[in-house]
Amino acid sequence: MARKISFINYKGGVGKTSLIVNIAAALAKLGKRVLLCDFDTQSNASIWLLRLDRWNKINAAGEGSVYSIFDPGRVKVRDIVVTDVVEGKAGEKLLPGLDLVPTTFNLVDLENEFNGDPKRPHYLVFAEQLAAIEANYDFILFDCPPNILRASQCGIFSSNEIYVPVNPDALSLIGFTLLVEKLYKFHQLSASFRTSAMGVPAQVQGLIFNSIKAGVDIEVPKMRLQLRLNQFRTAKRAAPSAKILATQIRDAMVVRRAVALGLPVALVGSEATDAGPGGDNVINDYRRLAAEIIEQAAT
Ligand SMILES: Nc1ncnc2c1ncn2[C@@H]1O[C@H](COP(=O)(O)OP(=O)(O)OP(=O)(O)O)[C@@H](O)[C@H]1O
Ligand SMILES: [Mg+2]
Repeated sequence: MARKISFINYKGGVGKTSLIVNIAAALAKLGKRVLLCDFDTQSNASIWLLRLDRWNKINAAGEGSVYSIFDPGRVKVRDIVVTDVVEGKAGEKLLPGLDLVPTTFNLVDLENEFNGDPKRPHYLVFAEQLAAIEANYDFILFDCPPNILRASQCGIFSSNEIYVPVNPDALSLIGFTLLVEKLYKFHQLSASFRTSAMGVPAQVQGLIFNSIKAGVDIEVPKMRLQLRLNQFRTAKRAAPSAKILATQIRDAMVVRRAVALGLPVALVGSEATDAGPGGDNVINDYRRLAAEIIEQAAT
């Protein structure tokens, strides 16, 4: 069975998309088969990995992105997967093993305009279609917006694990707290639609510090987060093994640049491999984080 993981925080801009794209790339480089599902109508991960010209075509067509499985509903998830999504300028495949379920701006219509069958909610429709292709993958990752509205619910319901990106600030802690509350409510709401084949409802497995500036002491925000996590573990609102991951991602200009280049950081080239203080670089952070996430499941 593929490991299915959502990256979410109720706080926006903490680095969910940057983490998911670069961890997906690190996993693919380790030889894992990875499917990244974009559930954020902003389409940041899709535009990043497809680059604007390819993404524009799907956006203009109105079909071929995740909303098309709901409306007009002629296609299934398997039909819209973009295989080996990362391409060079001449269309050459740069990162075999990383596939994308893209989104476009019409995903916002899932929130209001779409009237599904209450007996078969949107998240069940998606999960069942995903199950049909799950065996093709080792990891299925869901990039969620900072809420648990309908689009996010598709990712949350389909996944068994949650990783929460945080920055060392008070708002990330508030976002984490809100997330856990909303998650609990959604699990109650959706419980009757779960089958044993789906595995456990998604619980927080880990928190990831992202965009940490050199020389900044994060001990206080880390301690506050650890205390909150302990409370949630005791209340069984987070996985018993949930922890703050040891690997943190440094703040690096190349992460921002990589978006414009349409590449994961690992493929950017010399700019990314330049060693920072201590002879290390941000690619190694993502690599270590991918390894830690692989490890985390084994414990
Ligand atoms: N390690 C990093 N170093 C430098 N900049 C970073 C890093 N991680 C993320 N950023 C930048 O921070 C901004 C927000 O990141 P990102 O879009 O990944 O956050 P998000 O949580 O997905 O946001 P949203 O809530 O809008 O989906 C982006 O400009 C991104 O390039
Ligand atoms: Mg995002």
